[in-house]
Amino acid sequence: MWTFSDVHPRLALALAATLVIITFVAIQRFFARREFARRHGCQPVAGSLTKDPFLGLDALPWTLRALRQHRILEVNCELFRTYGNTFTVKELWNRAIVTVEPENIKTILSINFKDYGIGNRLDSFKPLLGAGIFDTDGEHWVSSRALIRPNFTRDQVADLTSFEDLIQDLFSLLPHDGVTVVDLQDLFFRYTIDSATEFLFGQSVGSLKKTESENTFAEAFNYAQEAVLTRGMLGPLKVFYRDQKADECNRICREFTQQFVEKAVHAVESEKDGQSETKRQKYIFSHALASRISDKTRILDELMNVLLAGRDTTASLLSNLFFMLAKNPMVWDRLRAEVASLQGRIPTYEDLRTLKYVQCCLNESLRLHPVVPRNARQALRDTVLPVGGGKDGLSPVFVPKGTLVCYNLYAMHRRVDFYGPDAEEFRPERWENGQLQLRWEYLPFNGGPRICVGQRYALTEAGYVLVRMAQEYKKLESQDPGPWEESLALTLCSRNGTKVCLTPA
Ligand code: HEM
Ligand SMILES: *[C@@H]1O[C@H](CO)[C@@H](O)[C@H](O)[C@H]1NC(C)=O
Ligand SMILES: *[C@@H]1O[C@H](CO)[C@@H](O)[C@H](O)[C@H]1NC(C)=O
Ligand SMILES: *[C@@H]1O[C@H](CO)[C@@H](O)[C@H](O)[C@H]1NC(C)=O
Repeated sequence: MWTFSDVHPRLALALAATLVIITFVAIQRFFARREFARRHGCQPVAGSLTKDPFLGLDALPWTLRALRQHRILEVNCELFRTYGNTFTVKELWNRAIVTVEPENIKTILSINFKDYGIGNRLDSFKPLLGAGIFDTDGEHWVSSRALIRPNFTRDQVADLTSFEDLIQDLFSLLPHDGVTVVDLQDLFFRYTIDSATEFLFGQSVGSLKKTESENTFAEAFNYAQEAVLTRGMLGPLKVFYRDQKADECNRICREFTQQFVEKAVHAVESEKDGQSETKRQKYIFSHALASRISDKTRILDELMNVLLAGRDTTASLLSNLFFMLAKNPMVWDRLRAEVASLQGRIPTYEDLRTLKYVQCCLNESLRLHPVVPRNARQALRDTVLPVGGGKDGLSPVFVPKGTLVCYNLYAMHRRVDFYGPDAEEFRPERWENGQLQLRWEYLPFNGGPRICVGQRYALTEAGYVLVRMAQEYKKLESQDPGPWEESLALTLCSRNGTKVCLTPA
């Protein structure tokens, strides 16, 4: 018989042996990594945000203050000015590298795409979206991308009739007296959920036609997105997070979308049987999906993914743009002068592409207020960034597996070495005549294999709304006394909305 006193020494021995092995493996890995870093000419990153070497808690007070003052992104810019274009951050037990170097961003998003993943995005999005193009990695993402991408070609986004129908809904809600204050931001969010559901489901939720209390889907979708953010912030602690309202909202959104999945599958089946009398005139995204896959859950998940990626982003662009236009009457006048070339006719897809000043305004808004202002990738294996190491920041940097590499477009888009001394100003003219020849220095839609699939759709929609507003209103006056302030949720928009007065042409 074994007694406790027999086991004890054996256990101690086993523990000791384990410890030796762990130490050995750690030492071996340390040297292997050092050799790998040496071979690539890596130097340590000079700037480090936190001096407290264990938990990095010394950054906490000002982070909280910036959060309270809604100046997170401004404070980020100051940090890059203080610590350089690439520096390290310690947050509790994680080490992250943050950068505003186009070369580094190009490396993580494109050149060494395979070395990085999107981290734990799926964990926080899954209850609402399921698994699809926006929130998965690896094989699953490859198949989602192959499924979704082909259905975003020019032909599918060039049909502007639904944009016009919704513009009429929008105009009917806007005051026409030149003195009543209206919040355009709220209306733009309704416009884009209406257009996105029309495009994806073949039927708009019609939120512009309803009162807030009737907007079950739109309201549930808003709340469900806030819960995504909360789960993302909690990280591993989210297992303790319970929010029944969020569960309910997720259910409402998914069940609502489910009916369109059923409709799409049904439409595709009856078409196959030759039962459909009229041939399909309008492009419906869900039908295109259903014609290529039969798994209903998969169709539902992909629809939810695209809806999330496409809705707030375009609404935020419009709100930020109109906030700045309302503060810059000269820009509005120039826009109206250019749009006058249409002689009052509603724009076609081709018109939108030839209205250069319209394009400049869209580019400038996305530069100054990129709606996805910060993003990150996590290293899946030991790898290297081309710049940021050493005192001069010109040497490569070793990136151990698991490191988060964060990039900050808000700060990069304001670099004076790329955009000149007036980089903080809203000045669409800087884009005229191809003065700015940029590639990875300007990245509102991301780059590389995961570049936004909806870019053309978004720019067409935002351009359409801009042109139609410029045709309809000769004056756009800001009623926000203060400057633009950040509201940082899943996307970046104006904290105070976009309060304006409009005078009809
Ligand atoms: C101004 C409007 C928009 C901006 C600034 C924008 C920006 C972005 C960015 C930065 C990403 C990359 C996210 C990442 O990989 O971490 C992305 C991805 C994506 N966007 Fe957009 N987007 C906009 C509008 C749209 C629209 C209208 C749609 C669809 C109708 C859309 C669909 C998608 C999808 C499906 C992805 C995921 C692509 C993938 O991971 O392979 N986006 N977008
Ligand atoms: C969607 O993309 C597929 C693959 O390119 C194509 O065969 C299909 O016709 C597209 N659907 C529509 C309605 O455009
Ligand atoms: C706007 O930015 C895009 C992307 O960098 C660029 O291709 C395009 O030429 C720009 N448009 C104008 C009018 O400068
Ligand atoms: C936000 O809007 C309200 C009026 O709706 C105004 O009183 C307030 O000063 C605004 N704040 C800023 C920072 O513009």
